[in-house]
Amino acid sequence: MHLTPQQIVAELDEYIIGQKAAKRSVAIALRNRWRRMNADPDIREEIVPNNILMIGPTGVGKTEIARRLAKLAMAPFIKVEASKFTEVGYVGRDVESMVRDLTEFSITMVKNEMQERVKGKAAENAEERILDILIPPLNSKGFGIERANTGNNTSEIATATLEDNPSSTGTELNQKTRERFRQKLNNGELDDRSIEVEVKKSISPTMQVFGPGGIEEMGINLQEMLGNLSGKGKTTKRKMSVAEAREILVDEEAEKLINHEDAIQEALERVQKQGIIFIDEIDKIAVSKTGGKSGPDVSRQGVQRDLLPIVEGSTVNTKYGLVKTDHVLFIGSGAFHVAKPSDLIPELQGRFPIRVELNSLSEGDFYNILNEPKNALTKQYQAMLATEGVHISFSDKAVKELARIAAEVNEQVENIGARRLHTIMSSLFDELLFAVPDDIKKGNITIDKDYVNQQLENLVKDKDLSQYIL
Ligand SMILES: Nc1ncnc2c1ncn2[C@@H]1O[C@H](COP(=O)(O)OP(=O)(O)OP(=O)(O)O)[C@@H](O)[C@H]1O
Ligand SMILES: [Mg+2]
Repeated sequence: MHLTPQQIVAELDEYIIGQKAAKRSVAIALRNRWRRMNADPDIREEIVPNNILMIGPTGVGKTEIARRLAKLAMAPFIKVEASKFTEVGYVGRDVESMVRDLTEFSITMVKNEMQERVKGKAAENAEERILDILIPPLNSKGFGIERANTGNNTSEIATATLEDNPSSTGTELNQKTRERFRQKLNNGELDDRSIEVEVKKSISPTMQVFGPGGIEEMGINLQEMLGNLSGKGKTTKRKMSVAEAREILVDEEAEKLINHEDAIQEALERVQKQGIIFIDEIDKIAVSKTGGKSGPDVSRQGVQRDLLPIVEGSTVNTKYGLVKTDHVLFIGSGAFHVAKPSDLIPELQGRFPIRVELNSLSEGDFYNILNEPKNALTKQYQAMLATEGVHISFSDKAVKELARIAAEVNEQVENIGARRLHTIMSSLFDELLFAVPDDIKKGNITIDKDYVNQQLENLVKDKDLSQYIL
């Protein structure tokens, strides 16, 4: 599935209001990668990847655009904070960890997809395993039924069956009981019964070792080594309900059914061809022309230099194999209030040739953001309360008022963009969420302008309060 630029924008429009220029740019960049990969091999290596720099104030959709883009491209995606690499104890190699994390993400993604595909078969296998526990298969001597894992009344049923059909042989009987149990199991009648299941031990890291280069450097071998020591592949017995056992066993069986070697190959390929790395706060590693000598500035410049080969295209060693970053799409993002893109080292500037500015959001945008996106906040609260039988609707004036308040608080306190809507909506719904279902059981509630004002007026008027709450 390779979307055209216009299709990509249309998909992004479902979630992100405005920011046309940014949507356009990411759409082009995504398509360009596909174009580049399909270009004639002679010229392919010459085409520089079109990485993007998104510039704009906080809370206007930078991260959201990148995240949605990754989702619809079904691409492995991670977000890193550039400033994290300037922290004390930072060593050059750490920057490569973003590629390792992306690979890890890709592996999980591919494995989940593969497991999803074998889910039917896995569910069957899990069912058999649960039946084996409930009614142990006959041993060579016959009557395994008597050893039945009797929870409470398994053996009664077994004995009853025996009396019903005195002529049945043990095997037939066992088979019949099994089918009877299978039915009960599928009807969910046995869900609450507790059984003892042999499950794989989960490998929990019991100690962390940090080498001079952080866990990364040692991680490659150490984690595997530890895995072997701490009983990878070993099992342990646990008591649990049938319902719980089913979930765990389906996962275990699905895991067994997939080919891990294939998964790794596929995941590596996906990282290299489709991976997206979002480098947030990239402006925090820029150094203004006047600086450059003090400690933190040196460190920031160091991070830029370390980023360079990765963004340019290099080969990173991960525990699954080598990963080439040539086709990975990098999206840098930052407010660039203090530093400017031109404060990045020239080589890095050149690697982010597409610059796109995101606008700060207006009252009208807020109104649309509350109404339109598939995941709009109004829809989220409606869905939450609907689970309790309370159906919320918003009058148009109410939404307009919410947008107005958001814009006002942003102006008076601090402009945090669309994030303001989250705090406002949670204050608006505070009372309702507490009242349902104790005081308000079921029914329809319309949120009108009066209700909005009643809930929020004091907060907005009192500047001290709104600083803390809104
Ligand atoms: N244009 C928009 N349309 C719809 N929702 C938006 C828009 N801008 C922001 N939001 C919502 O606001 C929240 C914050 O947005 P986002 O994380 O993209 O901010 P950002 O631009 O990355 O800010 P920062 O620079 O602080 O990281 C998200 O929940 C997102 O859904
Ligand atoms: Mg962000």
